[in-house]
Amino acid sequence: MSGELSPIDKAKFAAAKRAVDYVEDGMRVGLGTGSTAAWMVRCLGEMVREDGLKIRGVPTSTRTAELARQVGIEVISLDEAKWLDLTIDGADEFDADLNLIKGGGGALLQEKIVATASDQMIVIADAAKEVTQLGAFPLPVEVIPFGWQTTKALVEEALVGLDVMGRDGSLRMNGEAPFVTDESNYIVDLHLNRIKNPRQLALVLNQIPGVVENGLFIDICDIAVVGHGDGKVEV
Ligand code: 5RP
Repeated sequence: MSGELSPIDKAKFAAAKRAVDYVEDGMRVGLGTGSTAAWMVRCLGEMVREDGLKIRGVPTSTRTAELARQVGIEVISLDEAKWLDLTIDGADEFDADLNLIKGGGGALLQEKIVATASDQMIVIADAAKEVTQLGAFPLPVEVIPFGWQTTKALVEEALVGLDVMGRDGSLRMNGEAPFVTDESNYIVDLHLNRIKNPRQLALVLNQIPGVVENGLFIDICDIAVVGHGDGKVEV
């Protein structure tokens, strides 16, 4: 399945392949979004088709839902599943405490709901995503379109006094138009460079009217499966 891959894709594939070892027959599994998660969905699909693995998957985006169906995974909604045994998803950054920045692919809202409704969350990533301090990757904040410029200004104002290095937000674009999430919202990417206290920042952001959710995953992730370019994996 992996064919001739670049070192970065080899790392993503290796992490995904190792993480699916945690999936057992009968599980309800949260299916993350992004290129690393797509490898995981393909690996699970292979296990379903070739080994008869019986699982039900709850996708975290329309594109993951499409891929899951394509590879033969039974797709159900979170409300049908009610609760999940395990979620496997990628990340844009993770630290030693398994705090994550997610949302580079724009799916942070469904990803956070699904991961929070799971007994266990496994993050799968190439080694470059591991950082000593979060924040080099712009932090995605999902906002409702109504009054988004005012919400963005309120967010930037709320950052004054917090230990971050930058404060500028930019509206995520898709060509000439704003990028629109699966929940019909916009995303403001915050260029913070350094997030000293991710827990505090996550709480502050979610108190601002117009903010739907932020991409900081605090106390949600349980295990990191990290792939390297030579195909080695660390758990
Ligand atoms: C999507 C996400 C992704 O998991 C994150 O952006 C990592 O993506 P990739 O595996 O392609 O590097 O949070 O919203």
